[in-house]
Amino acid sequence: MAHSKLHRLASAPMTEFDFDRPIDRRNTASTKWDRYRGRDILPLWLADMDFACAPPILDALHARVAHGIFGYTEPSDTLNSVVCRALEEEHGWRIDPDWLRWLPGLVCGINLVCQAVGSPGDAVITATPVYHPFMSGPRHQGRELLRVPLLQDGTRWAWDLDALASLVTPRTRLLMLCNPHNPVGRVFTREELEPIGRFAQAHDLIVCSDEIHCGLVLEPGLRHVPLATLGDDIAARSITLMAASKTFNLPGLGCAFAVVPDAGLRQLLERAAAGIVPRVPTLGFTATAAAYGHGLPWRHALIDYLRGNRDQVTARLGELEGVGVSPVEATYLAWIDLRDRGLADPMRFFEDAGVGLFDGATFGAPGFLRLNFACPRATLDAALSRMARALARG
Ligand SMILES: Cc1ncc(COP(=O)(O)O)c(C=O)c1O
Repeated sequence: MAHSKLHRLASAPMTEFDFDRPIDRRNTASTKWDRYRGRDILPLWLADMDFACAPPILDALHARVAHGIFGYTEPSDTLNSVVCRALEEEHGWRIDPDWLRWLPGLVCGINLVCQAVGSPGDAVITATPVYHPFMSGPRHQGRELLRVPLLQDGTRWAWDLDALASLVTPRTRLLMLCNPHNPVGRVFTREELEPIGRFAQAHDLIVCSDEIHCGLVLEPGLRHVPLATLGDDIAARSITLMAASKTFNLPGLGCAFAVVPDAGLRQLLERAAAGIVPRVPTLGFTATAAAYGHGLPWRHALIDYLRGNRDQVTARLGELEGVGVSPVEATYLAWIDLRDRGLADPMRFFEDAGVGLFDGATFGAPGFLRLNFACPRATLDAALSRMARALARG
């Protein structure tokens, strides 16, 4: 008895948070789960997590709901100072609360920036594959999109500065950076970011840096470097987009923010947003304040768990013939290269095997798939087994 208790204690997870607990998301109108409603397909496509959010966030939301009134809400001074403190403690980035502009979503921010910077017909440059609103945003806002392919060194991806220089045009006004990168999982280093910054200076570009995944660095020893910390000139030409929504699993609450050190750029954004962009929902503010203020222990436990899941994905898929998995330095998204398998429609192939993945073509890279491993390990194991069996069958 004493022995089995000891054994249980020794094998118990070292965290008070239970990421193994399955939560049934069917019939909750979940975008991710509803796609395959009524079919035996494990959905590992869209980027939200199958984990309940951190207890302090739930507590704050319960308290706010108990108040019972959901009137128009401002970002409070407390919220702004919680965010400023988190950015300083986490990334060594000191910002002024005046630089913050709150948004009901980050994709909204991407589109706003495309609208605010330059004029119709001007160009936006970015590196692909990339999160698809980086490609649709410029088009929606009447801008030309210039795509520089990321360079692939083995399975590791990097910006191609020579290609960037050869593609830029006199009408290019905006460079869009995704860091950490969705879908290739890179955390770009200071040494990689500096030449991108110098390029922006040389061509007088505004840089929009989407850093929504910065709280999800999985690789020990790596640190997120906010682009705007590279120097005063870069800061003055930067619009950094962030949110608690990926890290703390709150995307349904509609809350993100832009950090914009330059007053002129803030004014351009405000003008583009006027009358179109709604206020941030009350509960989005509540959850965001609790996440940055009290979410750290949960986030550390989450990162440990995600790292374990990532290692499973890398080990189990990496050993399969003709399957390449990029190192996932950050995010909970694995980027899988299936080009050598010669599958006509990789997404369909795995759907037929009972696993729903995101088609790489959406990110500008046919032949690849994106797998979201932010789910209980048992679900992930089942999905990986289904994938391995399907590939073994051919
Ligand atoms: C790089 C990146 N930016 C933005 C978003 C979405 O932001 P939001 O849901 O706030 O529009 C995602 C979601 O996966 C993302 O990966």
